[in-house]
Amino acid sequence: MSTIVREALPEEHVRLGEIVVAAYRALRAEESGRYEAELRDVERRAREAVVLAAIDEATGRPIGCVTYVPGPDNPWAELLEPGEAGIRMLAVDPAVQGQGAGTALILACVERARAAGRRRLVLHSRPMMTTAQRIYARLGFRRDERRDWEPVPGILLLAFALALEEPAPA
Ligand SMILES: CC(C)(COP(=O)(O)OP(=O)(O)OC[C@H]1O[C@@H](n2cnc3c(N)ncnc32)[C@H](O)[C@@H]1OP(=O)(O)O)[C@@H](O)C(=O)NCCC(=O)NCCS
Repeated sequence: MSTIVREALPEEHVRLGEIVVAAYRALRAEESGRYEAELRDVERRAREAVVLAAIDEATGRPIGCVTYVPGPDNPWAELLEPGEAGIRMLAVDPAVQGQGAGTALILACVERARAAGRRRLVLHSRPMMTTAQRIYARLGFRRDERRDWEPVPGILLLAFALALEEPAPA
């Protein structure tokens, strides 16, 4: 499947919200109803941050999305420091996972953060999100234990960070 990534269009927000909820339900993470409502609300994330959509080129249909958080002052920022960008709520339709869309969405966030001159890209992931964590590791993200946190007792969030600064010339 050939996938392109671009900003989500308003008419795609409802479908993308359904995809995010379905992808998180498939993890059997037992999210609360309140968190599911938040996951579904792509319209709000697109208004307050940036929602990038993966589109199946053959059909033109959205198959996944991610929220790119441009900096620490954004309402969707989670423990970001100055000069950092973030990633939230990555999800791909369970029917088409394993074909590269998730990786394409993360790479698009990396490109955005680099183009904006951010020095680091940071995200949090729950322990059962092992597919996502293999993608992060392949793309060079490293664990950042000092930023692990528990927003709600019993919900552990593991921090991952990708350094974007060019290495100093030898
Ligand atoms: C995480 C998630 C978005 C990944 O989406 P995806 O589209 O399946 O991601 P990719 O296809 O890029 O990668 C998944 C796997 O498919 C493999 N893959 C990618 N393209 C492939 C291809 N053309 N042929 C065969 N395998 C392929 C990848 O190598 C990867 O393999 P691995 O699991 O052995 O490491 C998806 O699993 C999801 O929605 N999970 C639930 C929500 C979640 O965990 N979000 C993360 C929040 S931190």
